[in-house]
Amino acid sequence: MRQSKTVEPMDRRQFLTKTGRTALGIAAGATVLRPGTRAVAANEKFVVGLMGVRGRGVELVQQLVKRRDVEIAYLCDVDSNVFGESSKVASEGLGKTPKNIGDFRKILDDKSVDVLFNATPDHWHALPTILACQAGKDVYVEKPASSCIWEGRKMVEASRKYRSIVQMGDQTRSAPYAQAGIEYIRSGKLGDVHLVRVLNMKLRPSIGHKPDGPVPAGVDYDMWLGQAPARPFNPNRFHYAWHWFWDYSGGDIINDGIHQIDLARWVVGQDYPDSAVCTGMKTFDDDQETPDTQSVQYAFKNLTMVFECALWTPYEKKTTDAERNGDVFPAWMFNSTRVEVYGTKGLMMFGRQGDGWQVYGADGKVAAENKGKDPVPAHIDNFFACVNPGSNPTPTSRVVTSVQCSPIWGTFPTGWEDGE
Ligand SMILES: NC(=O)c1ccc[n+]([C@@H]2O[C@H](COP(=O)([O-])OP(=O)(O)OC[C@H]3O[C@@H](n4cnc5c(N)ncnc54)[C@H](O)[C@@H]3O)[C@@H](O)[C@H]2O)c1
Repeated sequence: MRQSKTVEPMDRRQFLTKTGRTALGIAAGATVLRPGTRAVAANEKFVVGLMGVRGRGVELVQQLVKRRDVEIAYLCDVDSNVFGESSKVASEGLGKTPKNIGDFRKILDDKSVDVLFNATPDHWHALPTILACQAGKDVYVEKPASSCIWEGRKMVEASRKYRSIVQMGDQTRSAPYAQAGIEYIRSGKLGDVHLVRVLNMKLRPSIGHKPDGPVPAGVDYDMWLGQAPARPFNPNRFHYAWHWFWDYSGGDIINDGIHQIDLARWVVGQDYPDSAVCTGMKTFDDDQETPDTQSVQYAFKNLTMVFECALWTPYEKKTTDAERNGDVFPAWMFNSTRVEVYGTKGLMMFGRQGDGWQVYGADGKVAAENKGKDPVPAHIDNFFACVNPGSNPTPTSRVVTSVQCSPIWGTFPTGWEDGE
């Protein structure tokens, strides 16, 4: 199964071109036998250990049990109270109950494990990824890549040094409709693109004010904190709500916003902006630290990209299941996670969750369109195709791409914390 694998040259620009599927072709790679890889029969399964089994972790288990080539050996979480759903989905789907563990290093120590899936909070993305590469595993790690640019670079270095596949949870990159949309833009049919507007508008509840309290029974809080600063337990900084605190993340630009920013950056086709300006504020009266209202302007060569976010807008909604999985386009004006691509010949409304894209001409009529489907299954397929030594992989969202995005989605925090 994993006797050898084809490893692509990891030249940055070449990789970016390939991820855009506008490639000149897949570069011929060298076949490399990695230290630690197992020589096993073709009918054996990829053995997976998954850390972080709550919200996203359950969704990933739901994807994994659809596959006939996967066995889940371990489910790992520092909160022993949250295994129920993921264990149930895994054992019903695969007919075998994974071991529930609290320390991910057991996964790394087990030589029978091929792949680490990581769906922990953002501050726990980098270190397990690097350690898993050192242990000879491949890694699927959720977005964002890391807590800071330095960490992200270390993840890239580790994936190169240990020849591990490290794929990010930036699933839109694997959607055929998104790849077709990029090709449409690159073909010139939209004219010259000078403005890309990235929306992240929705209604999120206030988290209120909560006092510090005792660590809940069954929670290894030290391990949950990891490299984050030590502080008393507070339920408002724990499961899911950590997104709104600088110690662990950076607000919704780093949560939902990065999916749209990643798509927009693919549209732009340039590695980095020349400059970025950000403003924001907080209107909620609660414990959150990160802004609920935010605007960023990025100056690329001959192109301006604007990101706009508000978390108190009830009229703009995330893509519905019917739009995600059916042949229905959203009412774009009310779609909360759209990307608007302004060309000299047309305006493209580009969805990022399977909602497809439509191009409007000067007459206001639809000039071209492409319906989409939820990109997550295709993304997981892409990951296992890359991990499979028998294939010639073209990763759609490798850690390099995601790390290049981090200066863009991470523009905000420095200015905000400095009070600018
Ligand atoms: N790609 C996507 O569309 C998508 C969607 C949702 C979430 N995500 C990402 O998935 C990640 C998890 O998000 P969530 O909403 O599930 O968060 P969550 O807080 O609901 O769940 C995270 C789980 O990880 C556990 N955990 C924390 N530290 C751990 C450690 N050291 N070892 C093992 N388990 C640990 C927590 O106890 C918790 O159960 C985030 O990075 C988020 O950005 C991606």
